[in-house]
Amino acid sequence: MKKKQHTQKKARVELEVRRVFKDFVESKKRARALDSVSFSVHEHEFVCIVGPSGCGKSTLLRMIAGLEFPSKGDVLFRGKRVGGPDPKTSAMIFQTFALLPWRNVYENISLGLESIGTPIERRPSIINKYIKLMDLEDFSDAYPFELSGGMKQRVGIARALAVEPRMLLMDEPFSALDALTAENLRRDVLEIWSDPRTPTNTFVMITHLIDEAVFMADRVIVLSRRPGKVIADIHVDVERPRVDHARDPEFFEMCDMIKRMISYHSGGTIPEPDTP
Ligand SMILES: Nc1ncnc2c1ncn2[C@@H]1O[C@H](COP(=O)(O)OP(=O)(O)OP(=O)(O)O)[C@@H](O)[C@H]1O
Ligand SMILES: [Mg+2]
Repeated sequence: MKKKQHTQKKARVELEVRRVFKDFVESKKRARALDSVSFSVHEHEFVCIVGPSGCGKSTLLRMIAGLEFPSKGDVLFRGKRVGGPDPKTSAMIFQTFALLPWRNVYENISLGLESIGTPIERRPSIINKYIKLMDLEDFSDAYPFELSGGMKQRVGIARALAVEPRMLLMDEPFSALDALTAENLRRDVLEIWSDPRTPTNTFVMITHLIDEAVFMADRVIVLSRRPGKVIADIHVDVERPRVDHARDPEFFEMCDMIKRMISYHSGGTIPEPDTP
């Protein structure tokens, strides 16, 4: 895999999360979900956000997507406040695939193009490009109920990429898949990220799995338990293509360091061992 451009020249900041707080009202009381979260993501970067369950990861991603808003602080894309969902800025991939059951693969991928008003005659070439990219050629007429979880997620990714957004946002995209399917899809997502033919090359992914984050990301942002605060922003200096923690001591050390950091900030509880 080629070294990304930002390692050679200074890439521009695409996303800036600036002192973001998020409070929810629960049982008539205000409860804080995120506490002064700040970080930025550069063009061509792959950033993973990890943290304990309930620390506000999905809430943070929804704010980046413009689906929710901070109680205080700002989320900026190229210096402009994110004021709502914008398909040209970002697309989201969900853990649960979120496909329309009454539409086949081709029609599901078409959905985003319809929503941004891509002229009907331009849609087939774009849809077919992403069908090919995600190895879905033999399934374009199939309906979601006919597909395995891995294939459904391929459709979800193709649908998100077809709109050609600047950023791809993924909320635990592999967690509903079996280990082998997840492993293959992780590699495919990394291929897409590094492919110069795909205009979407800034990726932000949430995961529970530290090994997964270290396998995929340029940087890992670690959140504390609720209310989520950034406790570390770590540059993953492990050469690509990466193998796994069992075969690479450098990889293992990075995972171990992050696990210990989370454990320390969670009051000393030992986190569950997680292997992608
Ligand atoms: N709409 C809402 N109303 C009230 N509370 C909410 C709302 N959305 C999220 N919360 C609360 O905010 C906190 C953070 O939720 P969020 O789903 O962002 O966590 P998470 O880190 O994604 O968790 P998980 O790892 O389990 O997916 C939780 O305590 C949750 O109950
Ligand atoms: Mg979540």
